[in-house]
Amino acid sequence: MTNHRIALIPGDGIGTEVLPAARRVLDAVAARHGLAFSYDEFDWSCARYLREGAMMPDDGLDQLRNHDAILLGAVGYPGVPDHVSLWGLLIPIRRGFRQYVNLRPIRVFEGVASPLRTAEPGEVDFVVVRENVEGEYSEIGGRMNRGFPDEMAVQEAVFTRAGVNRVLDYAFGLAARRGGRLTSATKSNGIVHTMPFWDELVNERAQLHPLVPWDQEHVDALAAKFVLDPARYDVVVGSNLFGDILSDLAAAVAGSIGIAPAANLNPEREFPSMFEPVHGSAPDIAGRGIANPLGAIWSAAMMLDHLGHPAAATDITDAIAAVLAETSVRTPDLGGSAGTSEFTEKLLELL
Ligand code: NAD
Ligand code: IPM
Ligand code: MN
Repeated sequence: MTNHRIALIPGDGIGTEVLPAARRVLDAVAARHGLAFSYDEFDWSCARYLREGAMMPDDGLDQLRNHDAILLGAVGYPGVPDHVSLWGLLIPIRRGFRQYVNLRPIRVFEGVASPLRTAEPGEVDFVVVRENVEGEYSEIGGRMNRGFPDEMAVQEAVFTRAGVNRVLDYAFGLAARRGGRLTSATKSNGIVHTMPFWDELVNERAQLHPLVPWDQEHVDALAAKFVLDPARYDVVVGSNLFGDILSDLAAAVAGSIGIAPAANLNPEREFPSMFEPVHGSAPDIAGRGIANPLGAIWSAAMMLDHLGHPAAATDITDAIAAVLAETSVRTPDLGGSAGTSEFTEKLLELL
């Protein structure tokens, strides 16, 4: 029996609805694969912020450090400004634990209608590799002349050679393992310092991965091609902001943002990695029990893969494919009328 200690952070809104579903699925595959999970649940959230003045305790990262992995729901809710909640919980975990790769796979499953005629089930299967700890998300900058006509805000983007190289190497390595092609998202036609630097580094790192075909596309054109011809992509690497936007777009192309998973990876395994759906806390549907749990469930499968249990992970992704292909039970975002728990039940039956 292999034991794993998992930190659960349900967070806010539908995060608290989809995470229990993921936990049920994990428990259902555990015994069959000789696994046992012990969970520590943390109530870190906007509710905690309103109660205690902080999203998590000062020693939050220390409390998480000795877990094998972190499973997170979503962070952010009306009542607390988003930059306060996110920079108080989600982003410090990504940065503090050097989770510099954010891996976001996209698939069009059979039984899920893509809004796009060109996205056939099975044909669309690619991964967005998002740089996750630097780039446009930075604390460097400032606001001046508040309230005056010449008020201004400056926000610096930070791209380091080491930070870009490590995520590029991960992306080239992933493309090699998948036997596919790497596409780099750039904007060097408009952003004249950081993006030419990014492009140069892609060129340099490509020399170290001579067998991986690669190209680069301007991120605006890339966004259009995600819609027009998503099947042409295999691994797409982008900066923190570009990867964020492209992964929501890709999730929508594949039918619903409610399906898309994410792995915030510390590839060196010095720290726990964190797994979470791509979507947020969805205040517009929170509390109604209708959130699609597949993003959280697929994230749990990515966690099992990371922990060295690919067969258990495949059991879960097979059950996801089966519930979509073989039944008509689905949540409203996919055109159904099932609630989160009814849909999870159905998936568990097929597991
Ligand atoms: P969102 O992803 O929460 O919602 C966007 C739209 O998608 C909404 O209409 C929502 O109902 C729908 N949706 C999202 N997940 C769904 C699911 N599982 N099933 C069915 N429908 C789903 O994005 P937003 O509205 O921009 O953000 C809401 C809050 O979440 C904000 O505070 C934001 O900062 C935060 N957020 C957190 C994370 C995270 O924790 N990783 C990610 C994105 C947004
Ligand atoms: C995501 C989210 C976060 C991000 C926000 C909530 C800070 O959109 O995980 O994709 O931009 O990283
Ligand atoms: Mn996002």
